[in-house]
Amino acid sequence: MRVSLVLPLVCASLCGVALSVCAADRAFTSYVSAKPVLNQPVDQLPVELRNPSEAKWVAWSQKEDKAIRGRLDQGNLDSMVNLLLYGTSFTKQPRIKVENLTEASRTGILRARVDDLIAGLRNPGDNERLTFLNALLRSHGIDPSSPGETGVFIYNQLQRVIQEIQILAKRGEEAKRLIQPNGAGPNGAPDPSAIFNWRAGLLRDRGVSLDTSIFPNFSIEQALRDLRNRGVLREGQVARVAVIGPGLDFSDKNDASSFDYYPQQTLQPFALYDSLLRLGLARSNAISMTIFDISSRVIDHIQRARERALSNADAPNTGYVIQLPRQLANPWPQDLIAYWRSLGDRVGSEVAPITPPSGLLSGIEGKGLETRAARIHPEVVLNCQAVDLNIVLERINLAEADRYDLMVATNIFIYYDAFERSLALENAGAMLKHGGLLLTNDRLPEVRGGSMRQAGLTDVQYNRDAVGWYQKR
Ligand SMILES: C[S@@+](CC[C@H](N)C(=O)[O-])C[C@H]1O[C@@H](n2cnc3c(N)ncnc32)[C@H](O)[C@@H]1O
Repeated sequence: MRVSLVLPLVCASLCGVALSVCAADRAFTSYVSAKPVLNQPVDQLPVELRNPSEAKWVAWSQKEDKAIRGRLDQGNLDSMVNLLLYGTSFTKQPRIKVENLTEASRTGILRARVDDLIAGLRNPGDNERLTFLNALLRSHGIDPSSPGETGVFIYNQLQRVIQEIQILAKRGEEAKRLIQPNGAGPNGAPDPSAIFNWRAGLLRDRGVSLDTSIFPNFSIEQALRDLRNRGVLREGQVARVAVIGPGLDFSDKNDASSFDYYPQQTLQPFALYDSLLRLGLARSNAISMTIFDISSRVIDHIQRARERALSNADAPNTGYVIQLPRQLANPWPQDLIAYWRSLGDRVGSEVAPITPPSGLLSGIEGKGLETRAARIHPEVVLNCQAVDLNIVLERINLAEADRYDLMVATNIFIYYDAFERSLALENAGAMLKHGGLLLTNDRLPEVRGGSMRQAGLTDVQYNRDAVGWYQKR
């Protein structure tokens, strides 16, 4: 069993309400627990697990854990490409949309951005993104002070990402065609359950990225409101919550939400906390949140935020600040704008946002950015603890009283095939209370003899998103 070295120390000093999670037994899913998933038809199992045995399961799950964690590296390289195309912290060149890449190559803008990135990587200064990429390049045997090899490496990564985007676009078109006959609603809009199905596993052979933005949090608030209105969740019912894979905003793959003018940040834990209080589903003095992730960048980021919150808990103007830009060129529906305006008001207070660079402010077609920021209260940060856990292959063995009322996981299962998604569903189920819910925007195949069933779906009516509710039986 792998345990983060910093965890016991941090737990001893920082954990209050959630101590039981720190002390608990994190382990690979046992053969007995995985059995219902392994009992599926043989063609749905990985080749190595046909005619499964305990020895085969243990060998496969350990190998698979390494493989999954290894995919983070490629996700990091994808982020480097996003930064190359959209970043503003290292260059004054215009941003490049993927569809305009050929033109940008012809006019020399791409070349100029690559040169500026190479220069930035050579001397990152206090730019945390460039510092991270400098180390990433070194880990690939590239010396960032050598412009030639750095340039070739960057162009190769760009080419790989563009090829993957083309494959994905084809996959998306095929899937949409498949769902069209029964998948279109009365006004021609896609059926939410069809959307929910076609996304699943779409990125199964890509690097695992940390990309995150405001949109999935809006989807989750919509789902929580729906659950409250239908009486599935009641006032004050949620006390123990987990976010699986909150991500870290570095430089998003979508140009409309890709920014690097503010420090890296995580949004989902605070946005979810905020929504639970806004909807009255949790009480502010009785909430504890666990954040599960395989990325040490996410885990360390949250640990550092907690350490800062602990050392400054009583000082004014401390806490975790989230920057919330919104690009005006992409019109948002009124309810999303209302969500954006309120985000953070139950867990923090409004502060002056960081001013974006002038190029972003003047924006696309004269439409720039509207910005706001919120400072999250230190006590909220301290109620969130981060734990390294691979939800596909691991679980924490918790007593019933310590299990979660609610788990949230968005834009994570899209990286996994159907078998891995079933394993993840059952691992989440093992950590939920009876009747507890897992909310996710990717379909998870239910397992015969397993503990989780899909109880419903919320149509978010924005961004082709739908949120499924899986309930522990
Ligand atoms: C694309 S980001 C999504 C972030 C956020 N949930 C959102 O929707 O904006 C995926 C996140 O899931 C995490 N992740 C991916 N696979 C995981 C796994 N098997 N177990 C735990 N976390 C995982 C990644 O490290 C990353 O933080």
